[in-house]
Amino acid sequence: MMTKCADPVILNLWHPVGAIAEAAPGAVQETVLLEERLSFAVDADGEPVVWRSRPDVQRADHIPPADRLPAISAYGYVWTSLGSPPAELFPIPEYQEPDRRKLNAATFGVNVSAPRAIENFLDMGHFPYVHTDILGVEPHTEVKEYDVEISVDRDEILATRCRFFQPMASTASDGGADVDYVYRVPHPYCSVLYKSSPVDETRRDVIAVFLQPVDQEHVRAHMLLCVLDEDNEDKVIKRFQQTIFGQDKPILENQVPKRLPLDPRAETPIRADKSAIAYRRWLSQKGVTYGVIPAAA
Ligand SMILES: [Fe+2]
Repeated sequence: MMTKCADPVILNLWHPVGAIAEAAPGAVQETVLLEERLSFAVDADGEPVVWRSRPDVQRADHIPPADRLPAISAYGYVWTSLGSPPAELFPIPEYQEPDRRKLNAATFGVNVSAPRAIENFLDMGHFPYVHTDILGVEPHTEVKEYDVEISVDRDEILATRCRFFQPMASTASDGGADVDYVYRVPHPYCSVLYKSSPVDETRRDVIAVFLQPVDQEHVRAHMLLCVLDEDNEDKVIKRFQQTIFGQDKPILENQVPKRLPLDPRAETPIRADKSAIAYRRWLSQKGVTYGVIPAAA
């Protein structure tokens, strides 16, 4: 049996628990965050209320304010915390742009740690093999040199100048193209990806993965799309991302060990793993212990 989360870094973060567009006003939903059973509801104005589940309380407006957990709505999701969260969540300025389509592509349950899922999200090397004919295709298998920095100001990892040949980069694509990527990791369990828009070469589509840690080896992965596409229906845009994620899920669930080893010698690094190495180092510097195997002191 696993012990509950005692990692103050993780306890004090905001974590996503559900998509607002999928919450009927007033309906109470049950979920699990960091091994704690929580309930949440969204009112008609989109304001969330979150609390530790109690059998005697079935309505959000019956929860005394003192018994509520911190709650915000951001990027189309309800976020909460079991500790003392920062005043603000990390910024995604593009989310405010009115011509973007903003969708929860899916919420997937996955039997893996949150850090393993972030690492897979950062990895371009698997595109031709796992997302064949969509995000990659042989012989275009090389991960070209790119830049990674840990930004001290913004407390996030930034990978830039990433390029990859993609046969079908998005629903708006009409053929293969070299696609530019920027990755941000602004939260230990969240990553934001920017990729060339097929419809406007001056802008980028934004795809984010927000991982809800259920326990150290299970997540609910919430996939945000914030894209430029005037033609396709919501369900078509969502289905594209669901297909991609459906291909990743068995890969993620076969990771051994399920927690991410932070010892730099634990797994052989290759050049494609540059962002993964920075991510592991950043988690170590923060002192994260939940969902990882910390390096020996
Ligand atoms: Fe993938």
